[in-house]
Amino acid sequence: MIGVFDSGHGGLTVLSALCQRLPRQGFIYLGDHAHAPYGSRAPGEIVELTRSGVATLFGLGCTLVILACNTAAAVALRRLQQDWLPDAFPNHRCLGVLVPMIEAVAQNPWHAVAGPDEWGRVPETLGVFATPATVASGAYLHEVAKRAPRLTVFQQACPDLAGLIEAGADAATLRAAIDRHVGDMQAQLRGTALDSVVLGCTHYPLVEHHFRAALPAGTRLLSQPQRTAEALTAYLFRHPEMKRFGAQPGLVRAYTTGDPERVTLAARNFLADSVLAGHLAFQALPHTHQVRQHA
Ligand code: DGL
Repeated sequence: MIGVFDSGHGGLTVLSALCQRLPRQGFIYLGDHAHAPYGSRAPGEIVELTRSGVATLFGLGCTLVILACNTAAAVALRRLQQDWLPDAFPNHRCLGVLVPMIEAVAQNPWHAVAGPDEWGRVPETLGVFATPATVASGAYLHEVAKRAPRLTVFQQACPDLAGLIEAGADAATLRAAIDRHVGDMQAQLRGTALDSVVLGCTHYPLVEHHFRAALPAGTRLLSQPQRTAEALTAYLFRHPEMKRFGAQPGLVRAYTTGDPERVTLAARNFLADSVLAGHLAFQALPHTHQVRQHA
């Protein structure tokens, strides 16, 4: 089984893309709803919460975990990969959602394995909408500088947005918040055209239509869930030992640190169009795998 971790619902956008792309692969999803949103938490807290979540998924039998959360990937992934995994879980792996997106934008080699894409050239300007913690981490700037140094990145923090989505805010409230964030991004640009935009928070694909409506028609919106699914497919091709189908191929289990009934209901609304809608019932974590509580 492959683990998929998010602070709450957002990672479901990635999970559904993974299930569509890898239908025989089993997945275990963990949403840390008890501590969401992560985007306004201090870096140390995000690292600890992410470490607990990943350890829980390892405890449930996963040897590979995808951090389907930009905030966790931006703030915690490198720390976990360097300071924790090599000693604590040397045969386990943890991957994120930033690098697949940036490698696709930069046209890096795995993409040739993953198949043709829809944009065909490296953009010159990239807008990233993300949580305050992701923006403050500088991870997008750092990873883009390594892979596509000529690409100029503009970042816009959206402090309220993941929380509004998680809470099921109405369309008018979401649209107003997104119009404000797109307006703030345009103020930063001072007339520079934005070639492409990454919705750098896994919650945001759920409101992609509002971003599409608020952004200029010529700006391309890049799909992070799809890129992550392509990158995982390519990774499993290179690392077949990480493919673990489990007893029932295609089985998807979901756990939450929050209230399973409430989370299941909300997830059905969030996944209305996906392969998982109506099938995914969240369970409370088995007692032995409770995530450590943080203030
Ligand atoms: N979905 C997460 C992300 O991709 C974080 C949202 C939050 O918990 O603030 O950044």
